[in-house]
Amino acid sequence: MVIEKICCLGAGYVGGPTCSVIALKCPNIKVTVCDKSEERIRQWNSEKLPIYEPGLDDVVRQCRGRNLFFSTDIVNSIQEADLIFISVNTPTKTIGNGKGRAADLKFVEGAARMIADIATSNKIVVEKSTVPVKAAEIIMKILRANTGPGVQYQILSNPEFLAEGTAIVDLVEAERVLIGGEDTPEGQRAIQELCWVYEHWIPAKNIIKTNTWSSELSKLAANAFLAQRISSINSLSAVCEGTGADVSEVARAIGRDSRIGPKFLEASIGFGGSCFQKDILNLIYLCESLHLPEVAAYWQQVVNLNEYQKTRFTRKVIEALFNTVSDKKIAILGFSFKKNTGDTRESPAICVSSTLLDEGAKLHIYDPKVEYEQIMYELTNPYATSDPEKVKRNVEIHDSAYSAVAGAHAIVLCTEWDEFKELDYKRIYDVMMKPAYMFDGRKILDHDKLLSIGFHVQTIGKKLGRASSIRAQGSQTMP
Ligand code: NAD
Ligand code: UGA
Repeated sequence: MVIEKICCLGAGYVGGPTCSVIALKCPNIKVTVCDKSEERIRQWNSEKLPIYEPGLDDVVRQCRGRNLFFSTDIVNSIQEADLIFISVNTPTKTIGNGKGRAADLKFVEGAARMIADIATSNKIVVEKSTVPVKAAEIIMKILRANTGPGVQYQILSNPEFLAEGTAIVDLVEAERVLIGGEDTPEGQRAIQELCWVYEHWIPAKNIIKTNTWSSELSKLAANAFLAQRISSINSLSAVCEGTGADVSEVARAIGRDSRIGPKFLEASIGFGGSCFQKDILNLIYLCESLHLPEVAAYWQQVVNLNEYQKTRFTRKVIEALFNTVSDKKIAILGFSFKKNTGDTRESPAICVSSTLLDEGAKLHIYDPKVEYEQIMYELTNPYATSDPEKVKRNVEIHDSAYSAVAGAHAIVLCTEWDEFKELDYKRIYDVMMKPAYMFDGRKILDHDKLLSIGFHVQTIGKKLGRASSIRAQGSQTMP
């Protein structure tokens, strides 16, 4: 089989960018991205794409209508496809068995049932979503139990490693592509077919082939290891604040050991995003199911530490503001879970904002890419508050940082957007209440400069105060 047509079920943060890059790099393949949400497909076909991702507009503009299509015609797309990606969401279960830990596979199952109902010719079905180990078996069972005469399926695991904000570069210059399949002649042939697609732009040596279960587990393991590094450095940030060590200096020092490496050692107010927590919880559930309580507890601590970091930071804000934020105006700079994305899923800004609102603060929020409705959705949903009306009364969304900070008692910087480094902080200081407080949750600002302007500054993993402020004023005589 030569792959001529690809269908992707799920036009989200993974399905959209991944298939756009496949279409860009494989002009001979017709790629159709489908979603059951008509609104999402309408946005993909409009001038304003449903997600913000640097470089994505350009790729879509080049390919859309040529060999890249966004469609709700799932029946036709599945029927004509040689290969089908399943890129649907796999959230943590909120009810029933495994609630709060296991992945909810209802959308994966739904996609498999759609394929089984519609397909009338052989298909390679590729798990692109992040799934628990052995999920491919579920897909296979559904497909094989519902197969019409003459239709055969091969199931491959091909997890996605892109990070939001850098998705296009991650896809175009992927360090590795992972493909898992069955150790049968048919399984190996299917792996080769998918390799052929990627080899349009990925060197063959960067394509790793494994068995299906190794591939599924490697995705969970990769996210768990990355999150573990963040929790490790965040744990040390608390030690730094208590001792006078500087977490950035510690990260630089340990990162120079090539066995450790410099990446993912940026202490922060905690990791966010739709996947780290979900995938570690998924791994924990797997360990519990395998009766490995010590292993489950080990990974649980990565999640616990992340919760601790978010609440520790918020507690510091409240304590510094004389232990009360009631009726105080606080500017929140940044609401997305990291820079260069408009995605707010599990953003630490939600936890910080909700706690401050609970304590009676009035929040003035600005984010360069997150829209009003999205911020309100996050702060008024039942996980965030029991009083959505109060939240609506106490939150104002701004379209510039300068208007958000006017008259504020404090600024809490939650996302490391580059534009926050360039703001005129003297101008900001002048329009704030005094004493003016700055809480830099991403340690991206020039703290000495802020101190010299007059701000009271706190950040992650570094004790700031008189020593820094005097250094900033040019004194070399501090003990
Ligand atoms: P998403 O919520 O942005 O998109 C999923 C889409 O699938 C939704 O638009 C939904 O309407 C659609 N959908 C659900 N069932 C469908 C069906 N039967 N047919 C057609 N469409 C259907 O999710 P996402 O962020 O793209 O993540 C998808 C998967 O990829 C998850 O398993 C996630 O863990 C994994 N992943 C995500 C990222 C990331 O950066 N977001 C990176 C790597 C892996
Ligand atoms: C992460 C992984 O990096 C991707 O490889 C993976 O494909 C993806 O999850 C997924 O499976 O969804 P993503 O969540 O998009 O990607 O973004 P990251 O850059 O990993 O950042 C995650 C969170 O960790 C952000 O809140 C970020 O601010 C935080 N972070 C990251 C830190 O606090 N410190 C760091 O040093 C790095």
